[in-house]
Amino acid sequence: MNIREQLLTLLKESGESFISGEEMSRRLGVSRTAIWKHIEELRQEGYIFEAVRRSGYRLLSSPDITSAEEIKLGLQASVFGQHIHYYSTIDSTQNKCQELAKAGAPEGTLVIADEQAGGKGRLGRVWHAPAGKNISMSLLIRPQLELDQCPQITLLAAVAIVETIKELYSINAAIKWPNDVLIHGKKVCGILTELNAEADHVNWLIIGMGINVNTEQHEFPPGVSEIATSIAIQKGEKVRRVPFIQGVLQKLEELYQLYVNEGFTPVRKRWEANAITIGKRVIIRTLQGQLEGLAEGIDDTGVLLVRKNDGTVQKVYSADVEIQA
Ligand code: BTN
Repeated sequence: MNIREQLLTLLKESGESFISGEEMSRRLGVSRTAIWKHIEELRQEGYIFEAVRRSGYRLLSSPDITSAEEIKLGLQASVFGQHIHYYSTIDSTQNKCQELAKAGAPEGTLVIADEQAGGKGRLGRVWHAPAGKNISMSLLIRPQLELDQCPQITLLAAVAIVETIKELYSINAAIKWPNDVLIHGKKVCGILTELNAEADHVNWLIIGMGINVNTEQHEFPPGVSEIATSIAIQKGEKVRRVPFIQGVLQKLEELYQLYVNEGFTPVRKRWEANAITIGKRVIIRTLQGQLEGLAEGIDDTGVLLVRKNDGTVQKVYSADVEIQA
């Protein structure tokens, strides 16, 4: 941890109690002037301190910024999120994460941005996220996988997000195959998984997650507003992003360890327990065309099995799914 991170940890751990400049300087091994400079810098960024002569400082509130230090404080994951690259604005966290992966960044590296100028969605679409409101993040993993197992990781990520939303906010979220997370039928989160592989093995996977946290309905662009929602809209109040990011990272790590140790079956069960697609009549749209049928389930590679009207089962690898009423 750098000095700023250590200072914030100290102030957060002190809670309601004051901690003197002298004690902070002694515990962190830097001068009192250095402590004061960091506190002023933090004030500029929106941290609010109470300072009392002879007693010292206490932290009254932190801004809702998704910086590396805020995420790391209190994060209960041992690999995911141990290396965090935060940007106030960037083209796409996916591109930056690819760059870092190529340069040898370790598993668990997280790239997070407050705003993306060129956010990428699935099937070549654009992903919108206004500044200061949402979560746009990409996680690097380096799994020992066959190529055809990779879609399982995308499903795993959807389980992590849906379970975190349910646990933190008691909102009834659900997964639409393969990995859109919906609340009351509207999309709250999209996941884009990108792969770098050789013919016979996977080098790395990047799980890109875009979560609408505090967007208000009128802030979604036309055409998106009708099909999108946010956690704040559903909850009726703004929520802090950092606890949600920490929750998702912890859940992702837990599920990933389960997957590595026990395979896809337990993850698949949790996916199915949260999926709204299965057992429903669906319209599948792919670049090759459209088909209708009954979504019967997913197989062990994460492929959607659709029973067509002629009775045959078609495997669907990538598509847009419309659930029929
Ligand atoms: C979808 O189309 O549903 C997937 C959207 C994925 C968006 C996220 S935001 C973080 C990461 N960076 C990107 O450019 N895209 C993904």
